[in-house]
Amino acid sequence: MANSKVWLIRGSSSGFGRSLTEAVLKKGDRVVATARKPEQLDDLVKQHPDAIAAVRLDVTNPQEVQAAVKLALNAFARIDILVNNAGYGAVGAIEEVSDEDIKRQFDTNFFGALNMTRAVLPTLREQRSGHILNISSLAGVVSFSGAGIYCATKFALEAVSEALAQEVKPLGIKVTNIEPGSFRTDFNGRSIVTSAHPIADYAGTSGRVIESNQAMDGNQPGDPVKAVTAMIQVVESESPPLRLALGEDAVNGITQKLDSMKAELEAWKSVSLSTRFEGETGGVASQSTT
Ligand SMILES: NC(=O)c1ccc[n+]([C@@H]2O[C@H](COP(=O)([O-])OP(=O)(O)OC[C@H]3O[C@@H](n4cnc5c(N)ncnc54)[C@H](OP(=O)(O)O)[C@@H]3O)[C@@H](O)[C@H]2O)c1
Repeated sequence: MANSKVWLIRGSSSGFGRSLTEAVLKKGDRVVATARKPEQLDDLVKQHPDAIAAVRLDVTNPQEVQAAVKLALNAFARIDILVNNAGYGAVGAIEEVSDEDIKRQFDTNFFGALNMTRAVLPTLREQRSGHILNISSLAGVVSFSGAGIYCATKFALEAVSEALAQEVKPLGIKVTNIEPGSFRTDFNGRSIVTSAHPIADYAGTSGRVIESNQAMDGNQPGDPVKAVTAMIQVVESESPPLRLALGEDAVNGITQKLDSMKAELEAWKSVSLSTRFEGETGGVASQSTT
């Protein structure tokens, strides 16, 4: 127990969150497991009464976010790993998804993760240690027709993580984006919210992608238990990556994206480089905010 780590996992009721909660308990770590219905974790609390605190958390509720961090510290006095996992997919063509559905999607997938991260950072800074795992997606690197809003939440999470990793590295804190392809959780079933206002013109593009994703429910190639084993491997690594793709579909999709970006950058390079003031020879900043 003395060397055991303390995990704070958002969204422990099913899928990756549930599998990860079970795996870390099995290896002797302690966990603050959050769920909108914490009674869904009663079986784990019964089996590991001293190692798990089940906490009610709707990630879109800022008061509950603060309360979950307080409870974690009261229960175990530290937090070693935060896992921003809770999320769902609002699907539909960009024009089809309602303003309200877009807002709810960002509140859960992006602001939920951002608020929890900001609430935990003071503790991690004080400890001068910690690891933030953001469950991003292949969709955090590659955007798909029919899932543009979902992808936007994951791209946003990736952007924040990339900057955060640079900010907290000198303070002993690590950040990793986990980028799964298709894994057999509840995600392609109950965690997909389809736009209520389909437009016939998009049936052949976004409509087709949505249908094939729904058809995949229950047949996804990825095993969530193996995914959480990989997440634990990342946390135990001396030099964890900023990004970890999970699954052959994720590796192939990201490779194709990188190849096509590189080819397009090369093809348009002369135009890209034609925009400097005449006679200007100043150096090029390696990092800029534009
Ligand atoms: N499975 C995949 O193929 C896949 C691929 C790439 C990325 N991901 C990402 O993996 C993460 C976990 O999904 P999963 O695959 O494990 O699917 P899942 O089995 O459907 O689990 C989704 C989890 O998110 C929770 N959640 C959703 N909205 C919430 C809210 N407002 N407050 C608190 N909890 C909320 C759910 O809790 P409730 O039980 O209360 O609904 C559930 O615990 C998501 O961020 C998803 O984007 C999944």
